[in-house]
Amino acid sequence: MERLLWLLIGYLCGSFQSGYFLGRAKGLDVRNYGSHSTGATNSLRVMGTGAGILVLLLDAAKAIIPCVLARHFFRGQAELQLLMVLWTATGVMLGHDYPFYLGFRGGKGVASTVGVLLALDWRLALAWCLLFIVTCYLFHYVSLSSILSMLLLLVLALVFFFRHALPVGAAFQTEFLLLALFNPLLSIFRHRANIGRLLRGEESRLHLFTRGME
Ligand code: G3P
Repeated sequence: MERLLWLLIGYLCGSFQSGYFLGRAKGLDVRNYGSHSTGATNSLRVMGTGAGILVLLLDAAKAIIPCVLARHFFRGQAELQLLMVLWTATGVMLGHDYPFYLGFRGGKGVASTVGVLLALDWRLALAWCLLFIVTCYLFHYVSLSSILSMLLLLVLALVFFFRHALPVGAAFQTEFLLLALFNPLLSIFRHRANIGRLLRGEESRLHLFTRGME
C-alpha cells in the first residue's frame, strides 16, 4: 500500500508540465511544435535557450523533491528506502511522460532522471551527466545522448543486481531490478520517434556551447 502511495505522490509531482505551462504563458502549446514533447529539449527548440534551461531545472526539481521526501521518510531502513525512492521515481516518470490532464501527452523523462539520480547519489548523477554532455558535444544529438545515458543506467542496474550488492532477500532484489530497469526502458521507449529520425538522418542537432539547436 505504501508503495502505491509513493507511486501516486511521484505521479502527481511528475505530471507538472513546466514546458507546457511556460508555453501557455507565451501563448503557445509546445506540443504542437517540434517533437511535440513537453520536455526541456523541445522547449529549447520552440521557445529558446532560457526556456529550455528553466524547464530542465523545473523538471529535475519535480523529481528531486518527492524522491528526497521518500528518502527522508524511510531513513534508517536502507533497503526499503532505496525501493521507495525507486517507486516514487517511477511515479515521477509516468507523470512526466503521461500527464492525466493533457491527454497523457508529456515528455520523455530525461531531465527528471537527473533529479532522481541526484536524490539517489550525486556521484551517479555526475557520471550520467558527464556521459550525456560528452556524447552530446561529440555527436550533437540530444536524443542519442539521452538514449546512451539510459543504457548506462540499464547496465548499472544489472551490474548492481548480479554482483548481489544488496545484502537482502531475493524478493527485494527482484523488485529493485524491475524498478531500476523499468524507468530507463520507458524513456528509451518514449524516444522511439527519435530513433526513427536518427536512423533516417532527420533528427535535429544541438551544437552545445556554440550554435545551439538546428
Ligand atoms: O529530453 C528528451 C530528448 O532526449 C529528446 O527530445 O524534443 O528532441 O524529442 P526531443
